[in-house]
Amino acid sequence: MSDLQERLEDLRDRGLYRRMRLVSGPQGPTVLLDGRPVLLLCSNNYLGLADHPRVREAAADAAMRWGCGAGASRLVSGNMTVHRRLEEALADFKRAEACLLFGSGYLANAGIVAALAQEGDVVFSDELNHASIVDGCRLSRARTFVYDHRDMEHLEWGLREAEGRGSLIVTDGVFSMDGDVAPLDRIVELAGRYDARVMVDEAHATGAIGPGGRGTVAAAGLEGEVDVVVGTLGKALGSYGAFACCDAQMARYLINTARTLIFSTGLPPPAAAGAMAALALLREQPDRVDKLQRNGRVLREALALEGVDTRGSETQIVPLVIGDARAAVAACDEALGAGVFAQAIRPPTVAEGTSRLRLAVMASHTKAELRAAARTLASAARPAIAARAPARPARFYDDLAEAA
Ligand SMILES: Cc1ncc(COP(=O)(O)O)c(C=O)c1O
Repeated sequence: MSDLQERLEDLRDRGLYRRMRLVSGPQGPTVLLDGRPVLLLCSNNYLGLADHPRVREAAADAAMRWGCGAGASRLVSGNMTVHRRLEEALADFKRAEACLLFGSGYLANAGIVAALAQEGDVVFSDELNHASIVDGCRLSRARTFVYDHRDMEHLEWGLREAEGRGSLIVTDGVFSMDGDVAPLDRIVELAGRYDARVMVDEAHATGAIGPGGRGTVAAAGLEGEVDVVVGTLGKALGSYGAFACCDAQMARYLINTARTLIFSTGLPPPAAAGAMAALALLREQPDRVDKLQRNGRVLREALALEGVDTRGSETQIVPLVIGDARAAVAACDEALGAGVFAQAIRPPTVAEGTSRLRLAVMASHTKAELRAAARTLASAARPAIAARAPARPARFYDDLAEAA
C-alpha cells in the first residue's frame, strides 16, 4: 500500500474521508444532487443571487467586453476598470474610505493577517475563526494567542500578558459553523485600550445581517472603527472573490505587503461584474435580507420544536451538532435519502467531538420547506444524539468527600 493510500485509509477509519458530490444546474433552493432532486440546505448562496438573471447577464456581458481573465496580477497589468468600479461600489456600501479586491476570502484573510502581524507581535484569534484566518496566523511570523470562543475575559487576559506586543485582534463576524455573532463592541473597546488593530471577517455577515445587509460591524454601530473589514463575493453576493474595506493608508499598505494580492492574478472580469450586479440588487431589494433572517428564525424554531438545541445561532447558519464524525455522516446520508441535503462537517473544520450538520438557509426557501426539513433532519440525527455520552460526568459522594 502506498503512503498516500495508507493516509486515505486512516481518514476512512476515523470517519474523516471526504468526497465531492455533484450538483447539476444552478444553486437554487432545490437541486439535482448526484442525479436526485433534493432540498439544498448547505449552500452559501444566501440571497439567491448566484443564478439571478441580472447577475448572470452582467457576468456574460463582462466576458464579452473585457474577456474571461484578468491576465496578470493587479500590480502588473491585471488591474482593470471593472475592478476599480466594484471597489468604489463596495466602499460606498460598507461606508469605508477604501476597498481592495482579493482573489477569494481565503486569499484575503491569509494575506491580510500575514501582512499586519510581524515577527515579535502577538495576534489574538477566536478559537472558532475560519481556517483562512488560522493559516494567515501561521504564515505571519507572529505568535498567535487563541482565545476561547467569544470569551472577552480570556482575550483581555491575553492582551495584558502580551505587554504591548498585541498587534491584531481578528475574528469572524458571523461564525461560519455555528452561526453566532462576535461581541464586536467589546473587541473594539479592548483593542482601543491595549492599542491593537481589529480585523473582522464578514464572509457570512455581508448581505445577511445588519442594516441593509451591511454586516456585523454596521449592526454594532462600529463602521469606521474597525481597521479591516473583509467580505466575500462568493456567498450572499453570488459570485466569487473577496474584498477588504479599510482606510486609504491601510489599502496602500496592503497593496505593498499582502502577498496573496501581489502574487496572484486579478479577479476574472465576469466575477467582478456579477458581484457588482448582485450588490446593486441587494441595495435595491433589502427585503431579501429580511427574508433570509426570517427563514433563519423559522428553521431554528422548527428545530427547537423537535427538541434540537441550535446552540447560540442567531443567523442563517444553524448547527445541528451530533458529535461523532461517523454518526454525522450517517445522519447526512439518512436525511439525503429523505430528500434534504445538509453536508456533514467534521474535524478539522470543527473541533473533535462536535461533528455536525451545518444548515444554511436561503432567502429563496419557503417556510413549509424549512419546517419539513427540520422534521427530516431531527429524525435523521436523533439516534446519534441519543447515543451521545452524557454531557456531565457522573459524580459520587465518595469522590466529592475525597476532593473535600
Ligand atoms: C468565515 C469565512 N471566511 C473566509 C472564507 C473563504 O472565502 P472564499 O470561499 O471566498 O475563499 C470562508 C469560506 O468558506 C468563510 O466561511
